[in-house]
Amino acid sequence: MCGIFAYLNYNVFRERRYILELLFNGLRRLEYRGYDSSGISIDSDPFPCLTDPLSKSPISPSPPLVFRQEGKIEHLVRTVYQEADGMDLNMEERFQVHAGIAHTRWATHGVPSPRNSHPQSSGAGNAFLVVHNGIITNYAVLKETLIRHGFEFESETDTEVIPKLAKFVFDKLMEHKADDAEGDQNVSFSQVVMEVMRQLEGAYALIFKSPHYPNELIACKRGSPLLLGVKELSEDSNNGASFDDSEFLMKNEKPKELFFASDANALIEHTKKVLVIEDNEVVHLKDGSVSILKFDTDKAKSVGGLPRPASVQRALSVLEMEVEQIKKGSYEHFMQKEIHEQPESLTTTMRGRLIRGGSCNAKGVLLGGLKDHLKTIRRSRRVIFIGCGTSYNAALAARPFLEELSGVPVSMELASDLLDRQGPIYREDTAVFVSQSGETADTLLALEYALKNGALCVGITNTVGSAIARNTHCGVHINAGCEIGVASTKAYTSQIVVMAMLAIAVGDDAISSQSRREAVIDGLFDLPNKVREVLKLDDEMKDLAKLLMDEQSLLVFGRGYNYATALEGALKVKEVALMHSEGILAGEMKHGPLALVDETLPIVVIATHDNCFSKQQSVIQQLHARKGRLIVMCSKGEASLVCPSGSCRVIEVPQVEDCLQPVINIIPLQLLAYHLTVLRGYDVDQPRNLAKSVTTQ
Ligand code: F6R
Repeated sequence: MCGIFAYLNYNVFRERRYILELLFNGLRRLEYRGYDSSGISIDSDPFPCLTDPLSKSPISPSPPLVFRQEGKIEHLVRTVYQEADGMDLNMEERFQVHAGIAHTRWATHGVPSPRNSHPQSSGAGNAFLVVHNGIITNYAVLKETLIRHGFEFESETDTEVIPKLAKFVFDKLMEHKADDAEGDQNVSFSQVVMEVMRQLEGAYALIFKSPHYPNELIACKRGSPLLLGVKELSEDSNNGASFDDSEFLMKNEKPKELFFASDANALIEHTKKVLVIEDNEVVHLKDGSVSILKFDTDKAKSVGGLPRPASVQRALSVLEMEVEQIKKGSYEHFMQKEIHEQPESLTTTMRGRLIRGGSCNAKGVLLGGLKDHLKTIRRSRRVIFIGCGTSYNAALAARPFLEELSGVPVSMELASDLLDRQGPIYREDTAVFVSQSGETADTLLALEYALKNGALCVGITNTVGSAIARNTHCGVHINAGCEIGVASTKAYTSQIVVMAMLAIAVGDDAISSQSRREAVIDGLFDLPNKVREVLKLDDEMKDLAKLLMDEQSLLVFGRGYNYATALEGALKVKEVALMHSEGILAGEMKHGPLALVDETLPIVVIATHDNCFSKQQSVIQQLHARKGRLIVMCSKGEASLVCPSGSCRVIEVPQVEDCLQPVINIIPLQLLAYHLTVLRGYDVDQPRNLAKSVTTQ
C-alpha cells in the first residue's frame, strides 16, 4: 500500500534522463502497491555550491524540483517531461552525485490529486521533502501544533506533517546551536529525522531529502517495509560489481549506486545485495557511506527526549529471486502468468519438504522452521488461523485436514474482526498467521495481540524478511515466488499446500492416520501434474466468461473442503472483474440464499467427489427444481451424476485427494475471473481501488 523508492548515485556520472528513467522504473515495479497517483523529486543543479549559513553544510543553489501527478505512473512520466521541457531542463546534464526520491500512492487521507501526492513538502523552498508508506495516527495533533507555529498546509494527507515537522525541528535545533556559541554548530540530518520520529505515532517507512543536506538521503521505518539496495561499481566501469560483503560501511570514494525501496521487486534488476531495514533504524546515505543508527522511539517518547542512538553494523543479505520473476514474459498480464505458473510455484513450495520412501519406506514432511515446535502445536488447546482475504480463505481450505490429523480444534479468525472483538487468545493456543506479503497491517496487529497474550505464533508467508516472518516464533515460507498481480492466485494454492504439509507434520505421531498421510503425500507429489491438467480448461473458461460477461452477479456454492473455494472464487470475480459475486456455504442455501434463485442468475456449484458429494447432489436438485441457471464443477467422468438431465453446464476437473481438491478447484475460477476481467475491459493487474499489500488498517 504505497510504494516508496529512492536512488542515489555516488561518484559515477549519471545524466538527468538516466536518473529520471531509473526513478520511473522503480515506481513501475512498485505500482502494484498503489496506483492512484505518484510523484518524484530530483535536483535542479548538479553541483551544490553554496554553504548553508546555519547548518554549515553545502546547499544547492536552487531548491529540489518536485513533480506530482494523479493517475498511473505513465501519466507522471508524461507530466515530468512536459514540465521539464517548459523549464528548459537539460536531460543530458550529468550529476556525479544525485539523490532522487519517488512515490506511488494508494490514497488513505485525501483524494488522489497532485497536491495529495508525494513527495510532501515543508513548504516554499522544499527545505524537507518526504515520501511515506503507512499512516501517521497522531497527524491531527501535530498539524494543529504546526499551524500554531505558522505553518500552512496545502494537502489533506497525514504525511504533510512530516516534512513540516522536520523543518520546525531543524529551525529549532539551529536556534539552539546559535545560542551555544562554544558548541558544535552543525545539525546533522539524522538528528533532525530522529527528533521527527520521536514525535510520530503510527506506521511508516519514510525517505527524506533536503537541500540543507544535498546529495544525502535518510530513510527510517516503523511498521512498514523498507529495503536498502547496494550496488558498488568498479572504479573503471560502471557495470562490474565488486562489493565486499564484510565492508558494510563502504569507503567513500568508491563509485556506487544506492537504492531504497518498499520491496525487492524494485531492486532486483539493479542489485541482489540488500539490507532489510528494521524498525527504529535510521539509514543515512552520505558521502558514499551508509550508516545505520538505531534508537528506541517508544522510550524516547516516554522520556520526552532523544536517547543516544546506537550505531549498528549489519551484513547485507542476497536476494533469492531472479529478474524474470518480475517480468510478464510471454503473458499479457501478471495475473495470467501467475495462474499458469502454478505447477512450478507448487513444485517450489514442496521442494525438499516431502520425504518419499527410503529403506523403511517412510513418508513424511520436513518443515525446518517448525520442527522444534511441533510438540507444542500438538499439545495446544486450540489452533487459530488468522489472516485476511485470500490468505484467510486458504486457511479455511486447510482447516478440515488439520483438524482431522491433529485432533486439535481449529478456529478461524479474520484479523480485523479478532482485533475489533479483542477475542480471547490464551497461552495454550497456537496462532497461525497466514499472509502472502507478510506485511498486512490487520494481520500484523493481530500478531502483536497474540504475542501479548502468550500464544505460540507461527507465520506462513511468501516474503522472506517480512514483518510477520520476523515477529513470529517460527514459521514456513511458502516460496511461491513473487506475486505481482494484485489478485492473489499462486500464493493461495501454495498456502494451502503448506498448511496441508503442516497438518501432516503435526499429525506425524499418530499410527492410525499413517495411511491417510501417505496417500496425501503421494497426492502432493502428483499435484503439479494435476494442476497442469486443469489449466487446460483455459479456453473453456474463456467461453464461459463470454457467456457471463454481461451478468450483474454470480453466486458460488461450496461446502466442506470447498466452502473456501466458493469464497475465494467469488472474491476473485468481484475484485478483478468488478462483478458482484458471493461465495455461499451450500449447507446454508435453504436458510436464505435460495430466495435469490431464478432462471437468470448464474450459479456455480462445486460438487467434486468427497464426503459432501451426495449432499451437493441434492443441492443441485433443489436448485434445478427452482429453474436455477447452473454451472456445476465436478470430478472428471461424473457429469452424469451431477447433471442427469444434461441441462446444466459442467466443468470437469481432475480428482485428487479430498484435502488437496481446493487447489485444483480454484484454478478454473481464477481463469474465469481473469477472462471476465479482460472481456469486460477492466484492469487485470491493478483492479480499481485496491493495492497489493495492505499496510494500513
Ligand atoms: C485478494 C487479495 C487480498 C489479500 C489480503 C491479505 O486477491 O490479494 O484479499 O489476500 O489483502 O493479504 P496478505 O496475504 O498479503 O496478508
